[in-house]
Amino acid sequence: MPIEPVLDLHPPAADLRADVLEGLSAPVKKLPPKWLYDELGSELFDRICETADYYPTRTERGIYEQHGAEIAETLGAGVALIEPGAGSGEKAERLLRALDAPAAFIPVEISRSALEGCADRVHAALPELDVLPVCADFTGEMPRGAEIRRSSNVVVFFPGSTIGNFDPVEARALLERFADLAGPGGRVLIGVDLMKGEDVLRAAYDDSDGLTEAFNRNILDRINRELDGGFDQGGFEHEARVNGELRRVEMHLVSRAAQEVRVGDARFAFGAGESIHTESSHKFDPQGFAQIAKGVGLVEEATWTDERGWFAVMLLRTTA
Ligand code: AVJ
Repeated sequence: MPIEPVLDLHPPAADLRADVLEGLSAPVKKLPPKWLYDELGSELFDRICETADYYPTRTERGIYEQHGAEIAETLGAGVALIEPGAGSGEKAERLLRALDAPAAFIPVEISRSALEGCADRVHAALPELDVLPVCADFTGEMPRGAEIRRSSNVVVFFPGSTIGNFDPVEARALLERFADLAGPGGRVLIGVDLMKGEDVLRAAYDDSDGLTEAFNRNILDRINRELDGGFDQGGFEHEARVNGELRRVEMHLVSRAAQEVRVGDARFAFGAGESIHTESSHKFDPQGFAQIAKGVGLVEEATWTDERGWFAVMLLRTTA
């Protein structure tokens, strides 16, 4: 089966300048985490995943290694696998190889080059599989209508605890879209990072190799480079802050002193200790997450975890 032509939904060109000016003008300064992922940022993230301190990737992979046969059996034959934000397709490839005669792979990815790489990779690994790539922003429109509806075993795959980057309201909305996409009787297979001790969390977002710090700081370099910014890296500190009340780890860039920073023609004042909030990673417990999912009509069918209970792979089914 060949790779089908890319269905290009023409995701709107993202606007770094607008996002930066808006985020730095807000009463609590923040930047959208998606801007962390340019070429260097994506490479740094891949390296973070291989560090000893960043446990989520390793732990999720371990769950698939330990429970892969059972997961494949539970998913059954003829799966049409949809992956919003498929990236390189590495995780999908591993899952698809374990499945019994999967019917189709539908990667949804905003980056056209990543999408094409992903489709090629999965096609090379599983030449019999129908690959239907969709270029779209998964928080926007993302259908591949007919092909999906024709399959009787649709699974929306969302690994990596990417769901944790959305605040609870957005996360719920996203789950609702996934339920829609899965359709009646369809399922969602999702990776969820779980709450754990503060020290483990802090180390994961401030690894001793300094890769997470470099990853966070890259956003300032980008602003300097792409928007003619005047950020001095020495004037800011990387901080991984565990917010127990909101059950999340936050990444911040904290101004070491009072200073003014120029971005193009605009100027932004920073107080000493004032931060730019660059990312949040929410942590869940399986019961609480199942509760959120139930609110949008997704019922827990199975949950697999590691021995330490650090990460969960959850299978949810639409009720309709
Ligand atoms: C890929 C978004 C799940 O939040 O843990 C890793 C990104 N940020 N280290 C996460 C990230 C800092 C990661 N996600």
